[in-house]
Amino acid sequence: MAITELPDYPWDRMAPYAERARRHPQGIVDLSVGSPVDPTPELIRKALAEATDAHAYPATAGSPALREAIAAWYERRRGVPGLTRAHVLPTIGSKELVALLPLLAGIRPGDVVVHPRAAYPTYAVGAAIADATPLASDDPDEWPEGTRLVWLNSPGNPDGRVLDTDALRAAVARGRELGALVVNDECYAELGWEGRWAEESVPSILDPRVTGGEPTGVLSVYSLSKQSNLAGYRAAFIAGDPEVIDRLLTRRKHAGLMLPAPLQAAMVAALGDDAHVAEQRERYRARRGVLKPALEAAGFTIDHSEAGLYLWASEGTDAWRSIDRLADLGILAGPGEFYGEHFPNHVRFSLTATDERIRQAAVRLA
Ligand SMILES: Cc1ncc(COP(=O)(O)O)c(C=O)c1O
Repeated sequence: MAITELPDYPWDRMAPYAERARRHPQGIVDLSVGSPVDPTPELIRKALAEATDAHAYPATAGSPALREAIAAWYERRRGVPGLTRAHVLPTIGSKELVALLPLLAGIRPGDVVVHPRAAYPTYAVGAAIADATPLASDDPDEWPEGTRLVWLNSPGNPDGRVLDTDALRAAVARGRELGALVVNDECYAELGWEGRWAEESVPSILDPRVTGGEPTGVLSVYSLSKQSNLAGYRAAFIAGDPEVIDRLLTRRKHAGLMLPAPLQAAMVAALGDDAHVAEQRERYRARRGVLKPALEAAGFTIDHSEAGLYLWASEGTDAWRSIDRLADLGILAGPGEFYGEHFPNHVRFSLTATDERIRQAAVRLA
């Protein structure tokens, strides 16, 4: 798909269902988008407010304090020791990075960009921007010669699937064989719920058990939008192979893709505090604990979803029938086809609604 052929924004197709859901006497329960609803923590807002004298241009590479905070955070929270300032780079939220990475990394027309079968749509958009060829595949054995970039997303959006260190290692090994950059989008890593992920941390692609200790050809993408309720700030970063980081930095400097200085200060505060992340995780755990059994009792099967911000559910029928039935209950959810052609029966429910709205959803589903 070339960039000129990008479809209309798919969410526009939800408008009639949203309109019907809004007519519910107790109002709409919108579980269709993953936009945080809880307040930005006070300590982050304070750091932002104290950094509003920003007369000079900020460094595209990030301030030394920010780069050090990112490296320290990877060591503390993600089991990745040894990163230096040269291994990390802030981005203006992660969506722009996802969309621009193929272009900025030098992916050329006709090169293959692999992304998950159930996928955040921007991976394919980024391939289109670079006139590359997207391929939806979760199996490293299927990745063809000519693959130059592989997107992984663990925990996944929309399906909440987690890749363990064996799966990550297999992906990195295949990427290195192909000479492809392997990038894991890890923004839901703090939200592990079930099975081993209730106890263990979800692994980073930069974990030494995955990379062998050298991040050659490997990047981790991370966003503070969800774990710190910072979606409106646009606060994210990448880490990994210092040569790739340096190449991206040069291109991003020329393109003016720099994170505003007050935001950099806010990110330092966010990355230095684990308590607000733990609090937010407990909010989502409680919401998930209400919504998941309510969906199951209403006839939905939940697939994967052992981590992350969504419940990936199916009634075994066409997703639009589920969307239609849900709209009558005043509930809005996202159809599986927005995340690739392989899941026509799935519906994505986001946990980003207030406790009161999630309870409303459970009452209506019953
Ligand atoms: C998997 C994944 N990657 C990236 C993003 C973009 O997040 P942001 O641009 O807020 O950092 C999202 C947002 O929902 C996402 O689900």
